[in-house]
Amino acid sequence: MSHVALEAEIAAKAEHPRSGCAHDFEQVFHVLPHAEARAPGRVNLLGEHTDYNDGFVLPVAIPQQTRVAMARNGGSTFRLHAAELGSAVEFSFEHPPGEHFASYVYGCLRLARDEGADIPGLDIHVASEVPMGVGLSSSAALEVATLRCLRELLGLDIDDVRIAQLAQQAEIQDAGVRCGIMDQMASSLAATDRALLLDTRSLERRTVPLPEGSAVLVLDSGVARSLAASGYNQRRAECEEAARLLGVESLREVEHLEHIETLPDIPRKRARHVFSENLRVLQAVDCRDPQAFGALMNASHASLRDDYEVSTPELDLLVDLLQRQPGVFGARLTGAGFGGACVALCRAGQARKAADAALANYNQHGRQGRILIPVPTERKENNESV
Ligand code: GLA
Repeated sequence: MSHVALEAEIAAKAEHPRSGCAHDFEQVFHVLPHAEARAPGRVNLLGEHTDYNDGFVLPVAIPQQTRVAMARNGGSTFRLHAAELGSAVEFSFEHPPGEHFASYVYGCLRLARDEGADIPGLDIHVASEVPMGVGLSSSAALEVATLRCLRELLGLDIDDVRIAQLAQQAEIQDAGVRCGIMDQMASSLAATDRALLLDTRSLERRTVPLPEGSAVLVLDSGVARSLAASGYNQRRAECEEAARLLGVESLREVEHLEHIETLPDIPRKRARHVFSENLRVLQAVDCRDPQAFGALMNASHASLRDDYEVSTPELDLLVDLLQRQPGVFGARLTGAGFGGACVALCRAGQARKAADAALANYNQHGRQGRILIPVPTERKENNESV
C-alpha cells in the first residue's frame, strides 16, 4: 500500500473507529460487518408484573448494552456467533436453532420476514455487557439490538415502537415466556438518565426525571432465577383468572379495592398487588422527593413478597439490608423475581457505600452478591463519585 493510501486508511479509521463488536465480527467471519446496532438492558424502578395486566411501569435504561453486527453471507442460512454460545450456530427458517440463546435472534429474523422484509442469509455476531438471568432484560436487549441491526442493514421501515412489539413477540413465540411489553419498550425507547413512564395498554409514554439528588443502585443476589419462566406464566394465568372473576378485560380496569377483597385467596392476592402497584407508579411519577419515592419502592417489595409471592429469602434479606442503610431511600426486588437482582434508590454519592455495607453482611455464609450498577470500575481510594 502506498504511503498516501495508508495515511488515508488511517485517517478513515480515526474518523470511524471500528467498534469492539465489528472487530470481533471480523475475527470470526473474516470480513467487515455491513451493519451494527446496539440496545441497552433496563432496570425497573416501579410497576412490577403490571405490564401484562395493561398497567403502568417505570423502567430506566441501564448503561450495559448488547451489540449486534451483521453481514450478508451470500447464502440462505444464518451463522450466529456469540460468547454465550460455545461455537457458531447455524440455522435457517426451515431448521430453527435448538439453542435457547439463538432462538431470540431466530425469532426476530422470522418476525421481520413476516412483516414483509426479504431476509438474506446472514453472518451475525453478538456481544453483550448486560448481565444475563438477573432481571435486567438481557433478552430484550438482544432482541431490540437484532431488530435495529436488521433495520439498518435492510433499510426497513419500522419505528422504535414496532421494534419493541416484534421483540416482545419473539420472546413469547420463540422463547416461551408470555411476557408483557415493558422490557422491549424500555430497551427500545428509554434513556439512562430519566425513567420511562409507560401505559402498557395505550403505549402512551413520557420520560420523567429521577427524584432530586438520587442515584440508582442494582445488586445481584447471586441466586439464579429458578422457576422464572414457569412461575411467571403461572402468575399471568392467575391474573387472567382474577380478571375473569371480576368481569373485567384486565386487572388494570379494577377501580376499587373492595371488589378485589371478595375474591378467593390466590386471585385476591395477585389482583391486590397489581392494583396497589399501579397506584404506586402513578404516585411516583410526579414525586420529586426521594424519601417518598423510596417508601413506594419498599411498599412494592412487600407487595411482591406477600401478595404476588415472587420473592425469595435471599432477595428479602438483601432488600432488608439495603433498606437499613442510611444512604438508601428505598429498595425492592426488580424484574420478574424468583431470584436475580434488587434495585435501590440511594442518596447521590452514597450508592457504593450502601452497597458495600449491605453486601458485607449479605455475602456471609457463601452468598455471592455483587454490584451491577453503578457499573463497577477501577476503584479509586476514597473517591466516592456515585
Ligand atoms: C419480566 C417480563 C416483563 C415484566 C416483568 C415483571 O421482565 O419480561 O414483561 O412482566 O418480568 O414486571
